Amino acid sequence: MPGIDPPLALLAEVTHRCPLQCPYCSNPLELERAGSELDTATWKRVLSEAAALGAMQVHFSGGEPLARRDLEELVRHAVSVGLYTNLITSAVTLTAARLETLVAAGIDHVQISFQDVEDMAGDRVAGFKGAQRLKREAAARVRAAGLPLTLNAVMHRQNLAHLPDMIEQAVELGAGRLEVAHVQYYGWALANRAALLPSRAQLDAATAIVEAARERLRGRLVIDYVVPDYHAALPKACMGGWARRFMNVTPSGKALPCHAAETLPGLEFPSVREMSLAAIWRESDAFNRFRGTDWMLEPCRSCERREVDWGGCRCQAFALTGNIRATDPACALAPDRKALEAAVRATEAPPPDFTYRRIGGEPAERAATPTTTG
Ligand code: SF4
Ligand code: FES
Repeated sequence: MPGIDPPLALLAEVTHRCPLQCPYCSNPLELERAGSELDTATWKRVLSEAAALGAMQVHFSGGEPLARRDLEELVRHAVSVGLYTNLITSAVTLTAARLETLVAAGIDHVQISFQDVEDMAGDRVAGFKGAQRLKREAAARVRAAGLPLTLNAVMHRQNLAHLPDMIEQAVELGAGRLEVAHVQYYGWALANRAALLPSRAQLDAATAIVEAARERLRGRLVIDYVVPDYHAALPKACMGGWARRFMNVTPSGKALPCHAAETLPGLEFPSVREMSLAAIWRESDAFNRFRGTDWMLEPCRSCERREVDWGGCRCQAFALTGNIRATDPACALAPDRKALEAAVRATEAPPPDFTYRRIGGEPAERAATPTTTG
């Protein structure tokens, strides 16, 4: 269809299974079970359709994509249809043998998330004993295999004091890129917002540290920086704008414009089991719903930034205002800006404990001490 550019990348959430229990998980509150996951043949068709549609990259994500035993076959297929392949992993199960088979399959890039630099602190956030050590070992193996490595450092009020060490860790492990990503408050992270959201002073200190490190490490390490919306005056163009750059496919095959889209009421997301990726991208109501600017309310509708940030994040706007068309309260002009202000004021009190969850579907528990899965 004229006027709709192809997606840049497919985010293939091949499973929601995951050995970690991060309290800021952005996956949906209701995780999809292993029994509902797409089979190998369907994922291969989806990868072929993504390449035919014009996507350049596939990010194998989850959950933990290494939980799929057919991951190598999917990587091999993605490479064969011309997609650049990125593995987004917690890396706690990225053994030497597994890395070897992935390299043989043609994986192009690996991204590993880090919760902290210290073993005890990292393991506590991950809810997994030994996670921090396993991640470091896996990162070293990735570099030894000659693959480009990105570290994803998820930052929040309980680990921001370690930011300088997180940057050093990326240098020591030979990463080419570090994403310093403050938690974004969707999904499980919203339930833990009071435990995670930094104060303004903490954020300002972190920003100064990142800026100095960028200068010092120019040419050695690229640092991307994602600040929490709650302290911003202007919202981000979430996902580069609704259905403009990315397409997510969930483990069971639902196609989404962003990972949190299912939290929005009144939208039906098509399944790749029933529709081609091209038809979903170009024709489905859900993907077209917030494209362009016709759907906007004031003040976005007449704002000069409406085609810059596209009114901010739909999922955050709905979560905080109950209106899917509302201006994202991350914008200083938003009528519902006060929805953020109470959360920011709460950062002056000590943080509560994390609330963890398990994929088995048991009720979430209040955990004052780390829980472990292995
Ligand atoms: Fe963006 Fe809307 Fe705020 Fe303008 S009013 S800056 S378009 S969110
Ligand atoms: Fe859904 Fe931002 S996470 S639009």
